[in-house]
Amino acid sequence: MTLRPLSQRVPAFEVTEGAGVTVHRSIGTPALKNLDPFLMLDHFGSDNPDEYIAGFPEHPHRGFITFTYMLDGHMEHRDSMGNRGDLKAGGVQWMKAASGVIHSEMPQQTDGLMRGFQLWINLPARDKLSDPAYQEFSAAAIPEVTAAGARVRVLAGEYNGNRGVIDDPATDVLYLDVTLDAGAAFSLPLDDSRNAFVYVFEGDARLAGTALARHTLAVLGKGDAFGIEAGAAGARFILVAGRPLGEPVVQYGPFVMNTREEIEQAFADYRDGQLVRTRAAMTGH
Ligand code: CO
Repeated sequence: MTLRPLSQRVPAFEVTEGAGVTVHRSIGTPALKNLDPFLMLDHFGSDNPDEYIAGFPEHPHRGFITFTYMLDGHMEHRDSMGNRGDLKAGGVQWMKAASGVIHSEMPQQTDGLMRGFQLWINLPARDKLSDPAYQEFSAAAIPEVTAAGARVRVLAGEYNGNRGVIDDPATDVLYLDVTLDAGAAFSLPLDDSRNAFVYVFEGDARLAGTALARHTLAVLGKGDAFGIEAGAAGARFILVAGRPLGEPVVQYGPFVMNTREEIEQAFADYRDGQLVRTRAAMTGH
């Protein structure tokens, strides 16, 4: 067994998204343009309505998946597939935009804490123009497993025989939310074929002898196991892994394709009202 070392440490920095929402971005920045198959990671977290109330009004996506995990708050999702989603604390949403989706994500609260993550997962060329799909699950549906000093929510993939609610066939994503008691150590097998990262969002932790402060993303190096230790105040982090696609990435705003021509086509289709081709069924509960 080889523990995966720390390959790169990326402190998140604040950017403004949507209609003026403050987010901490780590993947999708100059320090870490992407981590195949992951294109972007935004951590939103604020108890100041001025920083989130404007939300994310109607906008398009093509060529990838958005994976949203709500930690606190309430967001309403509407999309061109006809879905209306209610994302509440602890709930998760997987939206395969693929050939094209236009959606909005708007806060349903005027005060209190709004906190969560949005991860963009790339699709292989063969799936980029496939039909959109949508999965959404509330907190109650998500398996929660306790280990020594640890509480693990399994959003996608498998942990210790527990299968997460989200099914991600193209890149086989593992997505865990792990809370550790003060000083607790946590490990699991994590095969070498998948790129992986950790993002600490409460407390602090140590990975392979290096301290990870809050709002820090750690890219994991090669190995077949993952190990981490919480600091004196405990730690909470997400651990995410996925199979790399190894394909060219051409990204322009909300469109992620393989070539420049495909990006131009996406803009043309959006302008001509042709971005949305099909409606998709919604699964979840
Ligand atoms: Co969006």
